[in-house]
Amino acid sequence: MYPERPGGLAFGGDYNPEQWPREVLEEDVALMREAGVNLVSLGMFSWALMEPAEGRYTFGWLDEILDRLHAGGVAVDLATPTAAPPAWFVAAHPDVLPVTREGTRIGFGGRQSACSSAPAFREATARLVRALGEHYRDHPAVVMWHVHNEYGAPLGECYCEHSVAAWRDWLCATYRDLAALNDAWGTTFWGQTYTDWDQIDAPRFNHTVVNPAQRLDYARFSDGQHREHYALQRDILRELTPHLPVTTNFAGTVNCKSADLWRWARELDVVANDHYLKAERPDNHIDLAMSADLARSVAGGAPWMLMEHSAGAVNWQPRNLAKRPGEMRRNSLAHVARGSDSVLFFQWRASRFGAEKFHSGLVPHAGTDSGQWREVVRLGADLRRLAGVRGSRVRAEVALVWDWESYWALELDWRPSVDLTFRERMDAFYEALWREHVTVDFVHPSADISGYRVVVAPSSYLLTEAAAKNLHRYVEAGGHLLVSYFSGIVDEHDTIHPGPHPGALRELLGLSIEEFHPLRDGETVTVTGETVTVTGEAATPADAMPAGGDTAGGDAAGGRPARIWSERVRPAGAVTVRAFASGPDAGHPALTRHDLGAGTAWYLATAPVAGLRGLLARVLDHARVTRPRGLPDTLELVRRGRHAFLINHGDEPVTVEGVTGVSVLDGARCDGRVTVAPGAVTVVEETPHPEGEPA
Ligand code: GLA
Repeated sequence: MYPERPGGLAFGGDYNPEQWPREVLEEDVALMREAGVNLVSLGMFSWALMEPAEGRYTFGWLDEILDRLHAGGVAVDLATPTAAPPAWFVAAHPDVLPVTREGTRIGFGGRQSACSSAPAFREATARLVRALGEHYRDHPAVVMWHVHNEYGAPLGECYCEHSVAAWRDWLCATYRDLAALNDAWGTTFWGQTYTDWDQIDAPRFNHTVVNPAQRLDYARFSDGQHREHYALQRDILRELTPHLPVTTNFAGTVNCKSADLWRWARELDVVANDHYLKAERPDNHIDLAMSADLARSVAGGAPWMLMEHSAGAVNWQPRNLAKRPGEMRRNSLAHVARGSDSVLFFQWRASRFGAEKFHSGLVPHAGTDSGQWREVVRLGADLRRLAGVRGSRVRAEVALVWDWESYWALELDWRPSVDLTFRERMDAFYEALWREHVTVDFVHPSADISGYRVVVAPSSYLLTEAAAKNLHRYVEAGGHLLVSYFSGIVDEHDTIHPGPHPGALRELLGLSIEEFHPLRDGETVTVTGETVTVTGEAATPADAMPAGGDTAGGDAAGGRPARIWSERVRPAGAVTVRAFASGPDAGHPALTRHDLGAGTAWYLATAPVAGLRGLLARVLDHARVTRPRGLPDTLELVRRGRHAFLINHGDEPVTVEGVTGVSVLDGARCDGRVTVAPGAVTVVEETPHPEGEPA
């Protein structure tokens, strides 16, 4: 369910009028109209003003603001302010304050200062949300509900007494009998067998490593507690206003490790995501694209909402770089290109006081006589022209496997190498695909993946048997799967699948691994660019990966450098396409291919330093994945419905062939080719092909 209003794309952001005197509020609505703002999120941190004492609700100040916004044609995404419990409440119930894994109870003075499991917090939440819902159920400005703010950030896990009590209940409900729990957690190791549920504590700080299965379950439990707190509110709001969608804003699909967004998305009427650039990363637009693709994917391909990003600098990174001219526009339209039906910001007006006073706003401290404000007004006009994009979908032929449970498990203590991190491999594959101009979806390993030509599983460490079977069926039916090292190693309890690695994928990949040989910090090994025979049959020349394909050259011996990982692969049905030329596995496979049923399963046993894109290109070609050719990798090209978005992140103009239609932002006609100026964005509504596809 998407909010009916505003029509077209939503534009606006978090609005915190309680920080400003009345005359500024009057100016706000006038400026919102000037910029074309049509949706603001209100009340996010206003609990102390909405309920200044227990049970005394004061909505009058907010009524006035909602009325004024409504009169100005601005719709409201009304927030429940539970991310900022007030001082009186915390003073009365100090037990709601969360406890860290190290055992420190946090103090009041920040935000997110209540534990989602604490009964007093849940009760106060329910009372307040009901009062808020009853008061605003018929207000014409309210078009949707925004529950809480960014569950999981910064409060992922809490270790207080209420959490431990709820955890024991969760364990009883999950395992039913202690023997099953002892078995799942492998408690015979280090003599941890439990004989009573009450002996089980949260996996709090320890001077050595805590049982990894216990920690993995605690991550599941903790995330579930936040979802319960969300659902408590959602259910009240649904009861009172069944016609209004309810959402909560994700703390960045790619940045919030503690929230399993596959599970979260099922609970939301519309997916809402926040994204902030990593200011110092030169190609941070790739991280943005990844966040947007993941938001669309967890939304099941449906349009989603960009609930927050920034007009300029944020204030919480080590060095908060301002956005360059045009960057905010490129960022905004990239989110739209990848499925967002809104461009919303934190926040409307930069704050004068408090923790975020150096954070940008749509109205900067410099005021409206500023380049930033002029860009805001221009963006508003662009978004009005793009109204026809609303509701349309992005199609992808390639999918990346992303599973939060595997993310959690992979990054627990004592793995074979500290260089094995979930994001390192995920980012490497995503970036290579982005530079190849391939739009990707993300998928859970158990999802229906039959519609994709290529599925890539980068370090899918935790893979259940059922998920592995799903991948197997996909390949047998004609799919092309590329698996990267350290995949299919453990089951849902972080227990190694029986037999040689990769237990869950041995048959599918047609190989086993005799031993891991993680590399030293900074060490590289080389991988041949040639077709080689190691054991089993030789690969056909057509299978060989091109030695080139990327900008980085090979070494003197013709090999290509790889880092982080090497391992002893023993083919058992797979053919070797490339071999290690140096290092602990010299002469043994680095890349294999296994033809299975109607499809192919590739396996890559190392991390190419610069060769991943060329390697992927070969897999994509083999699977006949269509993509634009010959474009520089500074040009982002994404198709959403009938619109082609062309975003030039580089310093040179780029001409793109094969685009025919009307350039929506300036009305120009494009007959087969379009040139995009440096830093510019062109959106072409493509002329339908006779068969219904763009020409
Ligand atoms: C998060 C929060 C906002 C604000 C921004 C600042 O996304 O949801 O309230 O603090 O960060 O970037």
